[in-house]
Amino acid sequence: TTPVILDVDTGIDDAMALMFALRHPEIDVRAITCVAGNTSLDNVVANTLRILDLVGAPQIPVAGGALCPLIESSRDASWVHGATGLGSIVLPASTRTPQPVHAIELMRRTIVEASEPMTLVSLAPMTNLALLLRMHPEVTGNLERIVFMGGSAVGGNASAVAEFNVWHDPEAAHIVLSSGVPLMMYGLDVFDAVEVPAQRVAPLHTMDSEISRTLGALIDHEAVDPASGATHSNRLIGDAGALCAMVAPELFGFERRPVHVELAPGFSRGQTLVDRRAHGGESAIHGAGGGPWPLVDVTLTCGVTEVLDLF
Ligand code: BDR
Ligand code: CA
Repeated sequence: TTPVILDVDTGIDDAMALMFALRHPEIDVRAITCVAGNTSLDNVVANTLRILDLVGAPQIPVAGGALCPLIESSRDASWVHGATGLGSIVLPASTRTPQPVHAIELMRRTIVEASEPMTLVSLAPMTNLALLLRMHPEVTGNLERIVFMGGSAVGGNASAVAEFNVWHDPEAAHIVLSSGVPLMMYGLDVFDAVEVPAQRVAPLHTMDSEISRTLGALIDHEAVDPASGATHSNRLIGDAGALCAMVAPELFGFERRPVHVELAPGFSRGQTLVDRRAHGGESAIHGAGGGPWPLVDVTLTCGVTEVLDLF
């Protein structure tokens, strides 16, 4: 099994990712840390605890972390995830309580106390991870790698070129990318590709299991487009796909590529530049300023049906 810490901003698709992780035999969730992103930190913590209840998870420690990005103020995604972060899905309040420590301390402890290297899985803006790496750089010695949902090789969602998690806290993403820890990026290139056909979701709604019915409602969640007012349901597995790539990498196509996060103000802030050129071109650019870009295992393609069969 892979021991992991999940950092989340639950969130419709983070909820699905939590359900997947908590029920997958090869994923050993040692701690869950929360960060503001899709919705406020309070909502993220409450939603996360409710999902733990729903799946009957053991008492996994959960802690709240950063209330906002390192530099900017929070800009949530309530137009996708609704006011509570779970759209129209209402789950009973949890009797669990979060740990009385900050997420950074929960991460630190969990990593240094583990007898084997830990994998950090980031499904949210990387504020907590950046703070951890700056405050406790010694943890990198016991990190296997960081798997993150964020960025893209082509195109964005929060802006024309930037993916939401990186766009929300670009400095944090830069700190994580330049940390020297091995990195796997699960970006929009694959995130947007893993669509669930409607006929696969329909049976979930009438199943005799609250977990299945909630999963169906999460996949079928409809968001209101703020520009047109139209509702749409993308039927994506979203963040859960990053966990699929972690446990079943053979279903995905990866390239190890230099990646840079755009930090300058303007239209491209938060964009991830994935350099897919052959080596000659890369080195010419890299020498030019700021040193070489960090190398990242970028997920670019996948077998959609095979991935869906993991659920
Ligand atoms: C990412 O942003 C959030 O809205 C989702 O939870 C996902 O982590 C996609 O850009
Ligand atoms: Ca997320």
